Amino acid sequence: TGFTGVSLLPVLNARDASAAAPQQAAAPVVTPFSVPMPLVPVLSPVSTSGGVDRYEVTMRATSKEILPGLTTDLLTFDGHFPGPTIKARRGRPVVIRQRNETAVDTSVHLHGASVPQNSDGSPMDVIAPGAERVYTYPNRQRPASLWYHDHAHHVESENVYRGLHGSYLLSDADEAALPLPKDAYDVLIGIRDAHFDTTTGQLIYTMSDRARSTILVNGAPYPYFEVAARKYRLRFANTSNQRFVELGLEDGSDMIQIASDGGLLPEPYTTKTVYLSSGERADVVIDFSRYPVGTKIVLKNTAGFGPVEEVGQVMRFDVVRTADDPSSVPSTLRTLPPLPQPTAERTVVLRMDEDGRVDPKAYIDEKLYDPERVDARIRFGASEIWTVTNANAKASHNFHLHLVQFRVLERAGAAPGPAESGLKDTVVLKPGETVKLQMTFDSYRGTYVYHCHMLDHSAMGMMATMKIC
Ligand code: C2O
Ligand code: CU
Repeated sequence: TGFTGVSLLPVLNARDASAAAPQQAAAPVVTPFSVPMPLVPVLSPVSTSGGVDRYEVTMRATSKEILPGLTTDLLTFDGHFPGPTIKARRGRPVVIRQRNETAVDTSVHLHGASVPQNSDGSPMDVIAPGAERVYTYPNRQRPASLWYHDHAHHVESENVYRGLHGSYLLSDADEAALPLPKDAYDVLIGIRDAHFDTTTGQLIYTMSDRARSTILVNGAPYPYFEVAARKYRLRFANTSNQRFVELGLEDGSDMIQIASDGGLLPEPYTTKTVYLSSGERADVVIDFSRYPVGTKIVLKNTAGFGPVEEVGQVMRFDVVRTADDPSSVPSTLRTLPPLPQPTAERTVVLRMDEDGRVDPKAYIDEKLYDPERVDARIRFGASEIWTVTNANAKASHNFHLHLVQFRVLERAGAAPGPAESGLKDTVVLKPGETVKLQMTFDSYRGTYVYHCHMLDHSAMGMMATMKIC
């Protein structure tokens, strides 16, 4: 079906503006704000008996109109782009039968979740074309906006790019009891980029492609979203392969961030921007009641991506009506468990070839990913401090571990900002930056990976294995 696997172009890192890339005109591929933002459908379980929600999902190729008048071939969960949202309740397991009807290996990873190894969707634990596999998610952790995506080694980057990603929203009674905006006013906003052949509408995939300059929100290019003049909870998720976004309203007005990767922050905080590297999530509350009906406000991306950056716009909120608003943002959202006394410390160094060679590699501790090798041996129950450094002078990375949510103790030698005051599973590392993380390995034993979540980088080797026993 025309998948070329992985093609390695000269590496083009996000900070090196001089590197040559497949260039694309600076004009947007579609008139911004000409299509409505789709709401991502919620998947229905096939059964809910015995205290377990069971789902059946088929991964398959499909095609869809994304750019007006053109057709784009995609890889999908159940024909949806992005994948359907799964809504889970804490304490209620979810069991998903995933059938792979694509022509490539897949492996479904639930990002941010604490699950047994055989349901982790690890890189080598793949579902061959024509095969299926059952994943079991215990949902013992606190509520959070998680997401699921392909993780089959060396093809995950292209598979995710072509559409194998979706959201998994975990809730519980405690969170539901908070007066936060709910139901129709609690909206997923999945942001990613793409590189289209604008004559055929097909997605172009090359490794480290800096021309992925079209922003898709819930699968639609630069959409508009009609809102009521009241508060909304918006769940931002950056599901791009490599792109980082810094989201802000064009009038510079405030948003209230209430949650990060691992769920609610201890306290809400008011901010003008939200920075998300690839794989990170943040829930914010925006109060549109400050705008008169008829106002249109653009959500901008000010992170930039070099010379092929297109319009710096993401989507537009159109305030179209008034509405009652019983919601509010409490001043305390959650009490985090105290940090245990650390029992071990280790360091991790991320580095990739930055010199534009033809077959660039990316390393953790100067080693390429080798699924046969255990890189970190961890005692079950340990609470560890990991000092993670980006050794590149120009390239950014980020860092994600499976199995655990962690706390950020330090960023660049200082206390982290409020956006990193809660639980996280992915952290950004700007060039030369170091973060100190603490995590506790008391949920499951087994082998799990940790890696850069710029998926082109993990596919180039920036991934390693930890064994908890
Ligand atoms: Cu989002 Cu190892 O994954
Ligand atoms: Cu990286």
